[in-house]
Amino acid sequence: MQFITRAIRDTVLEAGRDFPAVVLTGPRRSGKTSLLRRLFPRASYVLLEDPDTQDRARSDPRGLLEGLRLPALFDEIQNVPELFPYIRTRIDQNPRKMGQWLFTGSQEAPLRQHVSESMAKRAAILQLLPFSLAETDRATLLRGGYPEVLARPRARGLWFSSYIQTCVERDVRSVINIRDLATFRRFLALLASRHGQILNRTDLATPLGVSVPTVGDWLGVLEITGQIILAPPYFENFGKRLIKSPKVYIGDPGLACYLLGINTQAELDRSPFLGALFEGYVAAEILKSQANQGRRKELYHFRDQQGLEVDFLFPSGHGGLWMVECKASRTVKPSMAGPLATLRRSMSENAPVRSAVVHRPSTSAAPTRALAPGVEALDVRAFVEVIGGEARQTAKGGPRRARASKKPIEKSKLQV
Ligand SMILES: Nc1ncnc2c1ncn2[C@@H]1O[C@H](COP(=O)(O)OP(=O)(O)OP(=O)(O)O)[C@@H](O)[C@H]1O
Ligand SMILES: [Mg+2]
Repeated sequence: MQFITRAIRDTVLEAGRDFPAVVLTGPRRSGKTSLLRRLFPRASYVLLEDPDTQDRARSDPRGLLEGLRLPALFDEIQNVPELFPYIRTRIDQNPRKMGQWLFTGSQEAPLRQHVSESMAKRAAILQLLPFSLAETDRATLLRGGYPEVLARPRARGLWFSSYIQTCVERDVRSVINIRDLATFRRFLALLASRHGQILNRTDLATPLGVSVPTVGDWLGVLEITGQIILAPPYFENFGKRLIKSPKVYIGDPGLACYLLGINTQAELDRSPFLGALFEGYVAAEILKSQANQGRRKELYHFRDQQGLEVDFLFPSGHGGLWMVECKASRTVKPSMAGPLATLRRSMSENAPVRSAVVHRPSTSAAPTRALAPGVEALDVRAFVEVIGGEARQTAKGGPRRARASKKPIEKSKLQV
């Protein structure tokens, strides 16, 4: 597979012009090293993976740094975060020189912590998620977005099983001590069966015979290694009592399908999980769009005790709010707009709200259209294009409505 341009490219380059250091985090195999090496081909390269290099970095950090030609790229910095204070000293000797210190790392939360403690104001932290639909049509629900799966879709089953063993389990073990890997694997499968549901730790712990705090630890480490998505409830400006737990999704849609035993498009189309999987796919696309624009990842769900539910709420690029209902169907009906309209009426928000039913593409319907007053129907491609364009639109001034594409949709593009 040829190198596919990443949507985060300009955000990384801009960060390199504005900050002395740039840290690129993200789940394993999302393409971090490839991207930074391509964007900064002249940077010296230090791979902090093998124990010898790590020992050297720990025992003589000044020696390592002084011998380096700048700019320098430190790959897998999560292994030696002790280097940060020494790098900070070097940055402060020449604080106006930008883009000299580049890092990749696969554990977002601890890295953020180290960077904010040791490198405050000196480093931009960005996150590279797997490929989005906005970057390549190959990133379907069934495949997900990992470059190696997209390069060899037929080997996807083998790739995911080895990904779980070599990446997920290794990352988990580097953070917490797991004694029983077989139970952890069962936990992953059980979690996939709860994809799109309100998180209930007890409900996950009981069938596995482990404690609720253990499940909490496992979820915590899956979250920091970018393997799950948690969408907390949206609280602002409602006088109602709300459900407090987040909704949970396996982060990569392809991995979710794999864990649920779904291996073909036909199996996906008739799966009882299709609705939840499509919802997770949309969730992942929203977060990818935010991460690629260098914005904070923010995704909420809404559910009140009267049973009103809206799948997602998230800030728009224009200081407003998006409200989204996801429908795996390729046919949308005005009744699908009901919850969005009801929630909109009960909101005291002054900020502009844009409401959409996001659905799977259809050959017969236009990608965008009005569904009910104030609610539009957008197929997932049109939706991804609109949210990805928001940052650019904001820069130019003023929002723009999605344009209905005039091109007929190819059949292969319907496989989302
Ligand atoms: N933009 C791209 N286009 C095509 N293939 C890519 C792209 N980026 C990465 N790949 C391929 O994906 C694989 C993983 O990439 P890479 O090693 O850069 O990921 P990583 O996030 O650094 O992984 P790790 O966390 O294991 O260090 C490689 O085989 C690489 O060739
Ligand atoms: Mg790497």
